[in-house]
Amino acid sequence: MRQDSREFPRGFSFGAATASYQIEGAWNVDGKTENIWDRACHKVPSPVADNSTGDIANDSYKLYKRDVEMIRELGVDYYRFSVSWTRILPTSFPDYINEAGVAYYNNLIDELLKYNIEPMLTIYHWDLPQKLQDMGGWTNPYIIDWYADYARVLFQKFGDRVKNWITINEPKEICFQGYAIGTLAPAYTMSGVADYLCGKNVLLAHAKAYHIYDKEFRPTQNGNISITISCQWYEPESDREEDINAANEMILFECGQYGHPIFTDSGDYPEIVKQRVAAKSAEQGFLRSRFPELSAEEVQYIRGTSDFFGLNHYSTFLTYRNESVVGYYEIPSYNDDVGVLFYDKDEWSIGTHNRIKTTPWGFYKLLRQISNFYNNVPIIITENGFATLTGFEDNDRITHMRLYLNALLDAIKDGSDIRMYTPWSLMDNFEWMSGYTQRFGLYEVDYDSPELTRTPRKSAFIFKEIVKSRTLDF
Ligand code: NOJ
Repeated sequence: MRQDSREFPRGFSFGAATASYQIEGAWNVDGKTENIWDRACHKVPSPVADNSTGDIANDSYKLYKRDVEMIRELGVDYYRFSVSWTRILPTSFPDYINEAGVAYYNNLIDELLKYNIEPMLTIYHWDLPQKLQDMGGWTNPYIIDWYADYARVLFQKFGDRVKNWITINEPKEICFQGYAIGTLAPAYTMSGVADYLCGKNVLLAHAKAYHIYDKEFRPTQNGNISITISCQWYEPESDREEDINAANEMILFECGQYGHPIFTDSGDYPEIVKQRVAAKSAEQGFLRSRFPELSAEEVQYIRGTSDFFGLNHYSTFLTYRNESVVGYYEIPSYNDDVGVLFYDKDEWSIGTHNRIKTTPWGFYKLLRQISNFYNNVPIIITENGFATLTGFEDNDRITHMRLYLNALLDAIKDGSDIRMYTPWSLMDNFEWMSGYTQRFGLYEVDYDSPELTRTPRKSAFIFKEIVKSRTLDF
């Protein structure tokens, strides 16, 4: 090994990731019914930046073999993809299983295994059946059962071959963006109320799927299952105590609200989260806290429902205390309940495109924090990435990836147990409300070509080298 290179630990593995609505297309094909993203994208006027939809997206419903070929080209060990609920269960419930949908994922899984690529299956990556949304979606506690029934179908159908399961992708984004500020479907905006209800139901739904897997399927199927949580890093703006506390609290609200009940020995939400929302609610004249607490049985039910910590990480923000912000419903309660403001620091951006700042030390600090919070839990990076505009010379993405991998190696050196790294994304795809204006792909997708041609960017070649050598060179 050269002096100026760093090796990844033995057994460390690399993957690539996508999600169903973002790539599959075929939105109403072979029995699939409407989900909340179909509904959102078909609205007039469109809420999506470029008025685009995922109706066709990357047409991976047809082109999945090309996708697997790209995964092989990269030489990675596993592929993280998600299943579209309404493709499998068109009524939303397991009263009717759509065999065409099952066949699609069977074909994808078999194609992966043919080339020794491990499937990592995300059960829920944001495309909720519209019918369930009409009944309140993630704010209706019955969703815990609806989701669990759906998860059971996937364990039954695919668990003989899928050994890596992610129950739910990014609870905070589902709940805060989907039900508080409306920047993701279903674009509901009852900030400070609906988002917290959603959060509790997501945790219980995750726990229920975990228990089902653990009791009914793990004994014969022998896989691993956990949740993916998005955690950004919040850096205090100054060394004033109130700013330091503000940054810590932001991490507890965002990461801890979902992580603590699952990953701490005592379970339950962080005390500060419960206290702050209760206090704010009282000030605002509510007769009870807007934060729905967990009962002792629920704490017990959720605690320990994980085999690893799935982490999605993108950004670092500067944070300061700002108690003067008041209000709920209209103003994002999240920041408001915490009593902080945060912002991107422009100087941190080393790229020309400022969607994602490159702040590897924030990633390092976050990884160490997660290890400290949660008994050095095994961590899988289920997403980390960088958006660019179109073009093949994606040097900013390369710099970003190398610096973040270097920070990851630092965290391993200092004791964190990090097992896998998954760049987002295998290829450009439908970036939710940003449509196709944000490109995250190692492969560029030419949306003007009838074949939706996928071509490797420079970053794909660099990543391939890293994967092959299991080494980061300088
Ligand atoms: C998180 C989400 O899981 C994924 O769907 C999204 O495209 C990326 N972050 C980039 O924003």
